[in-house]
This record gives sequence, structure tokens and C-alpha cells, in this order.
Amino acid sequence: MKVIVVGTGFVGLTHAAVLSESGHEVYAYDIDKQKIAAYNSCERAKIERYVNEPGLSSIIIETHNRYLFFIGPDEIEGIIDGTDAIFLCLPTPPNLDGSTNLSYYTNAVSYLGSLLAKRQDQRRVVIINKSTVPIGTARLLQKILNEHNVPNFGVASNPEFLPEGDAVEKSRKPDRVVVGADTPEDFEILRNVYSQYVKHVRISYTETTPETAEAIKYVANTLLLTYISFWNGVGARLGETFGNIVMEDLKRGVTSDDRISTWGSYVSNGAGGSCFGKDIQSLIFQLRQESQPYGLLKDVYEINEYQKTYLVDRAVNEVGFNFNNKTIALLGLAFKKRTNDMRDSSALKVVEALLGRGVKAIQAYDPLAIDEAKHFFNPNNNNLFEKITYHDNVKDAILNSDALFITTDWEEFRGVAGTVEKLVKPPYLVIDGRRMIANYNYLVKKGYGYLAVGSKYLAPK
Ligand SMILES: NC(=O)c1ccc[n+]([C@@H]2O[C@H](COP(=O)([O-])OP(=O)(O)OC[C@H]3O[C@@H](n4cnc5c(N)ncnc54)[C@H](O)[C@@H]3O)[C@@H](O)[C@H]2O)c1
Repeated sequence: MKVIVVGTGFVGLTHAAVLSESGHEVYAYDIDKQKIAAYNSCERAKIERYVNEPGLSSIIIETHNRYLFFIGPDEIEGIIDGTDAIFLCLPTPPNLDGSTNLSYYTNAVSYLGSLLAKRQDQRRVVIINKSTVPIGTARLLQKILNEHNVPNFGVASNPEFLPEGDAVEKSRKPDRVVVGADTPEDFEILRNVYSQYVKHVRISYTETTPETAEAIKYVANTLLLTYISFWNGVGARLGETFGNIVMEDLKRGVTSDDRISTWGSYVSNGAGGSCFGKDIQSLIFQLRQESQPYGLLKDVYEINEYQKTYLVDRAVNEVGFNFNNKTIALLGLAFKKRTNDMRDSSALKVVEALLGRGVKAIQAYDPLAIDEAKHFFNPNNNNLFEKITYHDNVKDAILNSDALFITTDWEEFRGVAGTVEKLVKPPYLVIDGRRMIANYNYLVKKGYGYLAVGSKYLAPK
């Protein structure tokens, strides 16, 4: 199949790469010429500057210019003929009122419509939404393409479910593929594109209406966030309020019931990433527009936002810690482990809260996200960001600090208690937003204070 993937961010780049492994002729197109040049360089570091996912750059290097071609605005017109499927992997950020900003979509589709209308061949082409888009967006595409008099086309919705950090593995073997389309011909084209999944024994391949496919994505994402917020809003609160509740035992006791998922049954300083927050806000907006109740979703969203910085407030109110003029070691910048993505990361909110409380310095470390952080915390935008220094390892970040704050669940942070003991003398406060430190009792015995999500403050003994 000849496939065009429009947008080469996390979703588009992974999708294009994994499709190219199946021997399709894949054109990955982006308006960002610098990105396209980086991918065409075939240099790992340049590719990973944009999307750093385990295994992704290796596929690109392997299939580049054999099955996978990167093209920019100057080349798209020349390759449009003979295309079977066009996947739209475009940003769908939130507007201030929570609704979805579809301008990337409408711009890209109008442009593609003008090119598709001029095609020499008249073969069937399907234009597919892979981004998370409000229910009814497939119809909007249809309308725009009809306005351009595009002949012989179909629209489809095929939402992406990949989790960052495992994007390649989960794209190669997804739990499910959902295809919403209108005609047998369009389902058939998608089956040809996805032939490796269609009859797979462990992959659920669902064919349905475009509207159902769009709804599946919103229900799935908001349900996941609901589960996370349930543990944060109920489990963590119980542990923090009533003494002697051990969060790990609570989790085991509850989730040993087959009906209750272990996934998400942790307490944390909130779930970040580019999707959860914007998707739930969008669904709230969609329901509100139709005068439907949305209170549950609103609470879920608010609990998650509250979690992001409430440990800073607890440190002040429960511990009596004064952040003013203190140096804080910040462990973790990415929104979760195994990715460099910082979009909506808890660390963004924590940095803002720490600067707001007048810290002297923030010594940050993250195994992958430091380059990304320098964009988010650009001192040209806010001179307070000059207080942030970046370090190559946990030790350098902790040295000469007054407290540390774990915001991301990188595995290497599990061993941080020993490093603290070697490098800094009490009084010293450890704030654990991910409950990464299993031997916290040891720290407390050695005179360090320990404040974690899900339990009361443990004062030094
Ligand atoms: N990131 C995830 O983990 C994830 C998972 C599932 C679904 N999604 C959804 O997928 C969509 C894309 O997410 P992402 O994280 O890949 O976004 P992204 O911002 O990383 O990438 C989007 C890309 O589109 C390009 N682009 C913008 N306008 C364009 C145009 N007119 N023509 C060509 N390219 C254009 C941008 O330059 C960028 O490279 C979003 O709707 C998101 O909600 C994301």
C-alpha cells in the first residue's frame, strides 16, 4: 500500500516507522522542515532530539529510503498520486475553554483536499483521523474534502492508543485496532494496511462507525484517568489522613480481586502527558455543549491537577519546611519514565510552585528530558528559570541541596536513599511524588524527613 502519514510527532513518527516495517511504501510528511531534515539525516541523536522512544530510531535507520521516506512541504505534491491511505497524526491541543483546537486539522485537510482534487489517478483513497478528535470530526473532514471536489475518497477514524515510553512495542502489538469507516471499500483498504493485525490471535480488530471509534478513544482515556484519580483522590487521601495505612498493602489487598485492575492502582503527583488532560477537558466541553451532566469528569480532572503540586503545600503546612532561599534537587522532568516528553508533566507545575515559594536554586536531573526542559524553562521567557541548573546524574543534582523532590518514576530513583545518606547531612527533606523509595524507614532512622504521596509525613527519628 502507498501510505502518507501527516505529522511526524510521537504518534505519526511511530506509526510511519512501524507501517514501514510491514513493507508498505510510507511517506512521512511534516510542515516542520527541521524535523524532516533531522529524520532524513538518519543520525540517531538528531532523530531522538524530536522523538525519543525505545527502538524507534533503529527502525528509521533500517527502513529509511527503502520503505520509509520523509518529505516536507516541497515534496508532498509530487507523491500524492497513487496513494491508498492518508493518516492524520496532527496536534489537537485544547483551547482555553477546554474545547479542541482543530485548526491544525482544518488547515492540513484543506491543503490535502486541494492536492487530492488534482490527482491524475482516480483510485480510492481513505483519509484517516489518528489523532484524538471530537466526536463528529470525521464528518468535518468529509465536508472539507467535498468542498474541494475530491473524487473517490472515504473518511475513517482510527484512534491511536499507544503509550509513550512503549510506543514502538505497543504499535507492533497493540491490544486493539479500532477502525471506524462508512463503506466496505474503505474497511478493505484499512484491512490491507493493517494485514498484520487483522487475524492476529491476541489483537482485537474492531470495525465500526467513525463516531463510535471517536467515542472509544475518549471513553478509554477518561476511564484510565478516572482510575488514576480514584487512587489519588481516595487511596492517597486515606493514607495521608489515617495513620498506619500502608499504601502498598492497600493496593495489593484491593487489586487481588480479578475485577479490579492493577494498572493505575498507584498514588502519585498526578498523571501528565499530552493526552489525559486535554482529552478529558475536551469531553467535558463536548458534553457541556449538549447540556449533559459532566460532574464526574470535572472531579477526575481537578483531582489530577491538584495532585501535581499539593506536595509542595504539604511540605509547608505539614512539615513546616520553608522553601525560601533553599536549593532543591528535582529528580525527573519527563511526564513519565522512558520518554523525553514533558508536555503537561508534573515537573512543570512543581517548578512553577517552587519558584513561587522563592527557592534559591533548582538542581534538575532527568535521564532523557534535559534538552526538552531547556525549551520549556527558557530564561528568555522568564528570568526566574535562571535558577534551574541541569545535571548529568542523580548525585550531582543532590549535592549541596536542602531537599529533594522526585517527580518522575524513573527506575534509577528507587536507589536514591543511599545517595542521599552519602552526600547530604540531615536536616534534609525527601519529597517522594511517586513512592519510589521503598526503604524510607531507613532514611527516617538516619535523621532525614520523608514526605510521600499516600502517607503522613514521617519526621526524622
Ligand atoms: N503522544 C501520545 O502519546 C498520543 C497517544 C495517542 C494519541 N495521541 C493523539 O495523537 C495526536 C498527535 O499527537 P502527537 O503527540 O504525535 O503530536 P505532536 O505535536 O508530537 O506531533 C504533531 C506533528 O504534526 C505536525 N504538523 C502540524 N501541522 C501540520 C500540517 N499542516 N501538515 C503536516 N504536519 C503538521 C507538527 O509539526 C508535529 O510534528 C494528538 O491528537 C494526540 O492527542 C497522542
